[in-house]
Amino acid sequence: MLDSFLFVGLPYISLAVCVLVTFYRLRHQRFAQSALSSQFLENKQLLWGSMPWHIGIAVILLAHFFILAFPGLWQALVANKTVLYIFESAGIALSMLALVGLAVLLVRRITSARIQAVTTTMDLVILLLLLGQVVLGMATAGLYRWGSAWAVNTAVPYVWSLILFKPEIAYVTDLPPLMKGHIIGAWLLLLLIPFSRLIHVFALPLQYLFRPPQKVVWMDSRHQEGELSLAEAQESRRYFLRAALGIVGGACLLFVGAADKLFRFFFGPRLSQKEEASIMSERLSLMQKTVEQKKYELERQQNDYIFISKLSDLSAQKGKYFIDYAMTPALAFLDKDNLPLLLSAKCTHLGCTVGSNVDADGKILCPCHISYFDIHSGMPNPDSPAKAPLPHIGWVLMDQSGKMVASKTANGKVTGNPDLTDLSQYSVFVARYQKEDA
Ligand code: HEM
Ligand code: FES
Repeated sequence: MLDSFLFVGLPYISLAVCVLVTFYRLRHQRFAQSALSSQFLENKQLLWGSMPWHIGIAVILLAHFFILAFPGLWQALVANKTVLYIFESAGIALSMLALVGLAVLLVRRITSARIQAVTTTMDLVILLLLLGQVVLGMATAGLYRWGSAWAVNTAVPYVWSLILFKPEIAYVTDLPPLMKGHIIGAWLLLLLIPFSRLIHVFALPLQYLFRPPQKVVWMDSRHQEGELSLAEAQESRRYFLRAALGIVGGACLLFVGAADKLFRFFFGPRLSQKEEASIMSERLSLMQKTVEQKKYELERQQNDYIFISKLSDLSAQKGKYFIDYAMTPALAFLDKDNLPLLLSAKCTHLGCTVGSNVDADGKILCPCHISYFDIHSGMPNPDSPAKAPLPHIGWVLMDQSGKMVASKTANGKVTGNPDLTDLSQYSVFVARYQKEDA
């Protein structure tokens, strides 16, 4: 119930409030979107805080959106270990940059009496929320390795399920609390955007960069004396924005350049014919994978049964991978009674695909963070990071004439008693509709 509210209700409420209130404010309160400027009151710390914060967070958020928009391409990139290490290290470096910037901005707000005069409670709430969000993101990245890889099977399909109005919270309910907090933090930030200075992300004052400079004329003698040097020392907001934009652009390019394949494409030596051929064959195999995936999807839409294997081809020591109706990976084994044993291969920790080799204790390993699962109970070892069992999957056994001779539901109910002297005459299927009480 709570999960449904936090991962379905909250995002939709936040989005609706954000869109409606932002629209209202942009239309009816055109001059009330900017925060009270503090640049006049203090400029040095602002520069050292705002610049690294915006550079760091802009690139990280771009990466978040990239993974969401192109999960397949991202997965193909991070399948290469070197690229994965580069991306993860860049993520940590950029989030440290953002964290330092944010800390400076926060200290500046709290310690300077002049800034306090133009600081609202909402300013502080937003700064603290952003701080929490960055810390949770970094903690997730540090404690649950290779988030940029496992997020493709968990957070990404969850966010897409929201976008397509078919919310699927199962993708995130088993995630560790840190990651759940990170996602909830994002929805809270979305909710508060229109009520806070964050609304400026929708009113990015780009025209500001090109308008003619403004001159501030002070009327009192104290300011007139130092006016020139002050004007030089205090870079105008316009220059600040220009520099920030330039550096953000440069950082983005650097980030993209980190993908060494891309770098080689532009700057590396020309490829030999052999190398071109090998790249083409790699591309072809990726395209074939996509075709295969589409074939699977079509097969699942058209048929009420999916063929898994001949019963005689299943083994008790090594599972056979297949894709179930939910398009998630699963494994088929031969059980002790010579009947099939089917279970999900999607690790209940963070969604990696578990290995297919059964060890001497009857367990299979998820290599991502070392969780061992018993294939009969589905249960993980008590000290494994995964806590929930791998769910079993129901099956149907058919003879050569296509007649159903036995079946087992996901909750373990078996029907039928086939003669198992010759396993090769039976085929194993999963059924689209299998009643739990069959
Ligand atoms: C629903 C929205 C979001 C999702 C699903 C999400 C997901 C993730 C994931 C899976 C990671 C771990 C990446 C890794 O291990 O390298 C991460 C890291 C991070 N996230 Fe988010 N995030 C969301 C929103 C946000 C927002 C709104 C912010 C900031 C305002 C943010 C800032 C960060 C930061 C700073 C990191 C650390 C990056 C690193 O060290 O690699 N995230 N996020
Ligand atoms: S995904 Fe972490 S142990 Fe499997």
